[in-house]
Amino acid sequence: MKKIIAVVAGDGIGPEVMQQCLRVLEHIADNFQHQFEYQHALIGGAAYEHYQIHCPDETLAICDAADAILFGSVGGPLNQQHLKKWQNCEANSLLKIRKHFNLAVNIRPIQVYTELAHLCPLKTERIQQGVDMLIFRELTGGIYFGNHQQSNKDNQRQASDECVYDEAQVRTIAHKAFQAAEQRQNKLCSVDKANVLATSKLWRDIVNDVANDYPCVELTHMLVDNCALQLVINPSQFDVIVTENMFGDILSDLAAALPGSLGLMPSASFNRQSKGLFEPSGGSAPELTGKKIANPCAQILSAAMMLRQAFAMYKEADLIESAIKATFGKGIMTADLADNDAHAVSTAEFVDVLLNEMTNLTP
Ligand code: IPM
Ligand code: MN
Repeated sequence: MKKIIAVVAGDGIGPEVMQQCLRVLEHIADNFQHQFEYQHALIGGAAYEHYQIHCPDETLAICDAADAILFGSVGGPLNQQHLKKWQNCEANSLLKIRKHFNLAVNIRPIQVYTELAHLCPLKTERIQQGVDMLIFRELTGGIYFGNHQQSNKDNQRQASDECVYDEAQVRTIAHKAFQAAEQRQNKLCSVDKANVLATSKLWRDIVNDVANDYPCVELTHMLVDNCALQLVINPSQFDVIVTENMFGDILSDLAAALPGSLGLMPSASFNRQSKGLFEPSGGSAPELTGKKIANPCAQILSAAMMLRQAFAMYKEADLIESAIKATFGKGIMTADLADNDAHAVSTAEFVDVLLNEMTNLTP
């Protein structure tokens, strides 16, 4: 198969983990007779240097023409936030590209690998039944995209952020989450704050309505504060979670603590036409940049999600995921996972071993 991939590496560790990720994709292309054409484009601070904006039309055009978008990360160091290059960089880049392609359905898988279970911050007995869930986060609505205002009242500054959802937005993500649950354990937990918020009452109504189309899926509702608690005391209870934009942002970071490192967390975002953007859940990690220690797994696992979900290359995606587990199984880890720095391998060394494992696992 021939596929065009928009490669938007961005800032910080983005370019270095992307470079390693492309080695993995080339290995797949060679071994499965595919052809991947990479169209590189700038985003974030990297784009600002060339275009004086964070998400230029040139980048959107390259993404538009591609079969899928492979994204790195954006944003700059804390001590440089005063520079124009970094001001509002994440919002200008990510929120613009999400809105432009209407990437409403964001999927964040959370898994505690048995090979890495010792890295989970919870007591062993809390994860004995395994942790393997998908968080479906609505990505183009809610408080992120309502009116943001600052004003003055009685000589005091005040601010407001508007949270809006319409039925269609809830319906779209609910269907996707139910369909995913059907392919898994048939359990869907919808998370809201229906005891307080009007948007959450609407959310619950629509999710209940959509449930009629999926009689085999057991639907539960959970309030977001309780969900945060449950993710810590009993994460095994969750199969698929579906929630609105900001709740999903917060809960997915909370859940990302379970596997032991943000460097393991991939994500995928889709629009109604199934255009997909695939990116690590973590940020640009400026403090790790250039040190050759960044964990490339989040980027590589995002590419695996791209192969499976955008290109229907199931064997190829399975191979990457199995090889990553096999690499961990051999005790090969980057510094964020290794028990001491002396045992850690560099970003590129990890991928050297990973490519070997891929070869070993190829029938
Ligand atoms: C994420 C990030 C973004 C978000 C930020 C960088 C705008 O935290 O993808 O989770 O809040 O959506
Ligand atoms: Mn986030």
